Amino acid sequence: MTDKEKKVVLSLVQPSGELTIGNYLGAIRNFSKFQDEYNCFFAVADMHAITVDQVPADLRRRTKEVLALFIASGIDPEKCTLFIQSQVPEHAQLSWVLNSQAHMGQLSRMTQFKSKSKEHSGNINSALFTYPVLMAADILLYQTDLVPVGEDQNQHLELARDLAQRFNARYSETFTVPNAFIDKEMGKIYSLKDPDKKMSKSDPDSNSYILINDKSDVIRKKIKRAVTDDKNNFSYNDEQKGLKNLINIYSAFSQKSVEEIVKKYRGENYSNFKEDLGDLIVEKLSPIQEKYNEILNDKKYLTDIYTNGAIKAEKVAYKTLSKVYKKIGFLKREML
Ligand code: TRP
Repeated sequence: MTDKEKKVVLSLVQPSGELTIGNYLGAIRNFSKFQDEYNCFFAVADMHAITVDQVPADLRRRTKEVLALFIASGIDPEKCTLFIQSQVPEHAQLSWVLNSQAHMGQLSRMTQFKSKSKEHSGNINSALFTYPVLMAADILLYQTDLVPVGEDQNQHLELARDLAQRFNARYSETFTVPNAFIDKEMGKIYSLKDPDKKMSKSDPDSNSYILINDKSDVIRKKIKRAVTDDKNNFSYNDEQKGLKNLINIYSAFSQKSVEEIVKKYRGENYSNFKEDLGDLIVEKLSPIQEKYNEILNDKKYLTDIYTNGAIKAEKVAYKTLSKVYKKIGFLKREML
């Protein structure tokens, strides 16, 4: 099948924090399975990241780190289009047009806007408000069929669908209406210290997360200190959320089912399980860490990847944007 006949998968990841195993297990690792059957676009959403305060040098570094993790996790830049959002100007351009189609009311109902406004109450900028419109532009530029995202992004995806349908109805068929691919596995890794919160680097307690680049002894120590309970009952349920989260991590790294794991450790001490889990993470993460660091140290390789990626992406994005500009009544700029 040529790329043209394949369905399109697209997803972007924000470079907004240090990378944890939550980013890896909950998102990036799940993307490579699409690359043989779909025409895949994966990108770093640096434009989304600036909707909250960023230190420029950190943003640059993290953008490269997300790219490196994509590749280290098995995404093949030959098979997929791997790029940086801000390097394809059509994202900003389509986003502006879509802003003229999106309603304030609908954007005000976005739960992520509400929670982020609380979290960043000193900087409620208008890009934070129109963030989902930029996300719709990301998706619609590539005529995307399927968007693998965590549950928390579903409302944004609904907006992208609405905008596509509204534009198609008003100006004639232009955009593919995308579908969410909500993977139950995605976005499901919680803090090791408070299993009600998502695992995140922004947590002040560094024992609550495992970074992609954590050393083996640090990983083992953090797992050992992870919160469980005093029930002394190895089982998988919502009353024992800490243990449940650890079992999920075990399952994700080992590809074993939850049932298998519960059967294996039933009646045992949590500490035996934790020791095995620490070893498992170290074992599975170390080849990824190795590749990740190798890529980050090879500046030329990484630059080539994202430069070529932007060229490939722009070809597709430009085609969609040209149609949109024409339909809404912008004059074509002639070449002299
Ligand atoms: N908002 C998404 C997140 O925070 C990232 C994102 C930006 C995205 N553009 C996208 C995801 C387009 C899927 C498709 O997770």
